Amino acid sequence: MSKKVMVWGSYVADLTGKAPHLPRAGETVFGNWFKTGPGGKGSNQAVAAHRAGADVMLVTKLGKDTFGDHALDFYHENNISTDLILLDEDYDTGIALICVDENTGQNQILVVPGACTNFTAKDIETLRPKIVASDILLVQLEINLDALERVVKIGKQAGGMIVLNPAPARKISEELLSMVDIITPNEVEAEVLTGVSVFDEKSAQKAAEIFHANQVKTVVITMGKSGVFVSDGKKSKMVEARIVEAMDTTGAGDAFNGGFVTALAEGKDVFEAADFGNALASLSVQKFGTAPSMPFRQEIDNLFVPEMGNNER
Ligand code: RIB
Ligand code: NA
Repeated sequence: MSKKVMVWGSYVADLTGKAPHLPRAGETVFGNWFKTGPGGKGSNQAVAAHRAGADVMLVTKLGKDTFGDHALDFYHENNISTDLILLDEDYDTGIALICVDENTGQNQILVVPGACTNFTAKDIETLRPKIVASDILLVQLEINLDALERVVKIGKQAGGMIVLNPAPARKISEELLSMVDIITPNEVEAEVLTGVSVFDEKSAQKAAEIFHANQVKTVVITMGKSGVFVSDGKKSKMVEARIVEAMDTTGAGDAFNGGFVTALAEGKDVFEAADFGNALASLSVQKFGTAPSMPFRQEIDNLFVPEMGNNER
């Protein structure tokens, strides 16, 4: 049986424009395409896990506004439970302003998480039994950090496995870090947290040692096309990326994390789970948008079917 996953994190409406290049400071660029869609790192990761087949519950917070209604519609259409979705009385639903370079698929993001910066102690107490009942708790840094620490503490004390995707890059307390079982930064986030500039396997190993010294058991550093560095404290290895032509890399990290925990919940080891996460990421970057571009289990499984040799019939 697959373990129970809880994702506690952000929902924001992604306001995405495509342009021939990303604007520099002070520059206005003529865009040629615009779309509003569901985003936010927590929600994206939960959607990825759900579509990949995980037993996952999402906790997020919306404002009582049109963007909040869009989110609820999206969850209903995707059969994602809204039982643990909170509505804030004062704050608006968060938003992200995203520019995508139409040639490279690279992006630039300004995020204002709105209601997701207002998870209260009362919200958390109300949901305590749900946190306690989860086997794996997946969190990010796109919410208020006082709430994050409370949630993680409850999960940890209940014996849950804590997976932290430390995105977007922010400094966190040593106390929070010491409760994390698995951390999944990209190169930039790894540098912000360890001070080590990460660009290859050797520098990733150096950063990993600092995390391990802070009681983090497993370190998973996503390094784009270079692959994913995984260290479980005993052994370490680069798990190869699946190279595809990217249309929009926004949310690739979320696809990875959603896939990674889905595989862990199914009992795969961290190295296999990283390979599974890579599969989701490679599929998601071939479609525009974040949550809507998360692949379904069948598409993922197709990537794991051994290819037949040319001369086989
Ligand atoms: O990780 C990608 C997400 O981060 C986007 O959906 C956007 O909402 C930003 O917060
Ligand atoms: Na995408």
